[in-house]
Amino acid sequence: MTAGKTFIEISNLSKRFGGLTAVDDVDFEVREGEVLGLIGPNGAGKSTTFNLICGYYPANTGSIRLDGKEIIGQPPHKIAALGIMRTFQHNMPFEGMSVTENVMVGAHTTLHGGLIPVLLGTGRARSEERALRKKADELIDFVGLSEERDTPVTSLSFGQGRLLETARALAGEPRLILFDEPAAGLTPSECVRLSEIIRGIADRGIAVLLIEHDMHFLMSLAERVVVLNFGSKIADALPQDIRNNPAVIQAYLGDAAVIGADTENGSGADA
Ligand SMILES: Nc1ncnc2c1ncn2[C@@H]1O[C@H](COP(=O)(O)OP(=O)(O)O)[C@@H](O)[C@H]1O
Ligand SMILES: [Mg+2]
Repeated sequence: MTAGKTFIEISNLSKRFGGLTAVDDVDFEVREGEVLGLIGPNGAGKSTTFNLICGYYPANTGSIRLDGKEIIGQPPHKIAALGIMRTFQHNMPFEGMSVTENVMVGAHTTLHGGLIPVLLGTGRARSEERALRKKADELIDFVGLSEERDTPVTSLSFGQGRLLETARALAGEPRLILFDEPAAGLTPSECVRLSEIIRGIADRGIAVLLIEHDMHFLMSLAERVVVLNFGSKIADALPQDIRNNPAVIQAYLGDAAVIGADTENGSGADA
């Protein structure tokens, strides 16, 4: 879908850890229905940016506005309830629960009476539970885990675990979803599947912010790419303009093959 109105607007965002500036005066925005790629060498500040958006770390400076409203300083559960969900670099399912139950837990931010009454099966929570189960089932179908509905999560393959994480994040009814290296560890066919799912998420009008090292995966999905290096934004451009951006090539120096840059002497292609 064509990107809609701006959902999240980040400006002058900084985070210091002691003497290290992990995120340095960063600005960018993500629109509804847009996939924005966030790349940069290891240690560039990508995951820290996610942690700032989700409220896990307090920012040293800056502003993060959702629909124009400031969210800096809000605790993580409030930010989640405003529609920001993330997946992690490592799958973190609740063991001892089925696939369906894991997805249901992801919906807790959308429940009126909270999760506990639903889990205890009390009173009007039962109708809420039925609605929740139905929603979980739809999301399980959407990510292609229909056959594994009742499977204990410990028996899922790594790739299936990644799909479960995605369904669980969607259960929270996000308006922005943050993916931190979702393609890592997936087989080529699982990558294709995940790519279709992310495209489908954006097509529902959800804003997507995607950190990914697999440049083929990222460049085929992202409508725009922001590049960080040592915490600073060094580029914000269309994917086709990123590969040959001198500052980006410089940041990835010695590793130009990672971004698929057209190096004239071929020196970057030895990775
Ligand atoms: N909790 C933390 N405490 C201290 N330093 C951190 C912490 N988290 C990240 N850093 C440092 O901040 C920088 C950015 O890290 P990170 O955001 O994880 O980078 P990326 O995800 O781009 O690889 C790195 O130098 C990292 O060592
Ligand atoms: Mg990271």
